[in-house]
Amino acid sequence: MKILLTGGSGLVGRFVADELMTSHAVTNLDIKPPHRAEIPWQRFDLLMPDGLDEVVRGFDAVVHLAGIPHPLDHPAEVVYRINALGTYHLLESCVRCDVRRFVFLSSESTLGFAFSTVRQWPLFVPIDESHPLRPQDPYGLSKVTGELLCRGVVARSSMTAICLRPPWIWVPEEREKAMYRSLIRDYPRWSKNLWAYIHVRDVAQAIQLALTAEPPERFAACFISAAENWTGEDSVGLLKRFYPETADVRRGFGGADSFLSHRLAEDILGYHPRFTRKDIFPDE
Ligand SMILES: NC(=O)c1ccc[n+]([C@@H]2O[C@H](COP(=O)([O-])OP(=O)(O)OC[C@H]3O[C@@H](n4cnc5c(N)ncnc54)[C@H](O)[C@@H]3O)[C@@H](O)[C@H]2O)c1
Repeated sequence: MKILLTGGSGLVGRFVADELMTSHAVTNLDIKPPHRAEIPWQRFDLLMPDGLDEVVRGFDAVVHLAGIPHPLDHPAEVVYRINALGTYHLLESCVRCDVRRFVFLSSESTLGFAFSTVRQWPLFVPIDESHPLRPQDPYGLSKVTGELLCRGVVARSSMTAICLRPPWIWVPEEREKAMYRSLIRDYPRWSKNLWAYIHVRDVAQAIQLALTAEPPERFAACFISAAENWTGEDSVGLLKRFYPETADVRRGFGGADSFLSHRLAEDILGYHPRFTRKDIFPDE
């Protein structure tokens, strides 16, 4: 397939570009250059859409990663504008250019826990796609907006759009590994993250699957996650200690199970997590 990957120069995009290039012809649309000179690069700012159709036309699929990955380093308005308006411009161009497949890297932040300022707790665990989305912050709101934009264009075109909702994406890079080690040591501080993670290579796997999957409807949004939480602690114990309000624990939830269910991704994409935190720290 001919694939336009946006954000392919970023932390996650680098791994996704490498994976997709094993089986597809990939062009990276980004304001920054790619990590390897062999990756075809189209310098483009999604906030300045003039000329976007000339870039998008001719691709079989668009994989959309470009944007701001959390709300902590930029003013709220900038986070929301780049993520929501960038996605809007790209989707509108895809409709005009008859791109048939759109894969959007949304986020678990659509749920609203990670960056909430007013306390929230899961209504049930494991959390699946029937759980309400209650973001309070510009990042989570921008991702919910992106998903709605996908749904809207699917309704008026022949596009299939699949929105993947990963939690924190862990990458096997030294600088990041030091941070993950400090998280694991200090896990009680990270309850808002629900101690959920996914290895970047499983994100790349899910994107590969989403490029060809035929979901029951042409719009789908699903969580993708590692199978276990990143603490290694008992999940029901974590729930009782940090979210005593959550009474609805679904049958089968136990051990170190992830608070996020990837059952729907398994059903519609054939996604199974293949990597764990052990693959991030192979020598420990
Ligand atoms: N990193 C995570 O843990 C995580 C978790 C869930 C979802 N996501 C999503 O994954 C995607 C990639 O995240 P990341 O961590 O690699 O972020 P990143 O900041 O490392 O990469 C984002 C890329 O988007 C590009 N970009 C930003 N604004 C742009 C614009 N206006 N036009 C064109 N390109 C632009 C940047 O140059 C950068 O290369 C994001 O959509 C993020 O929301 C990330």
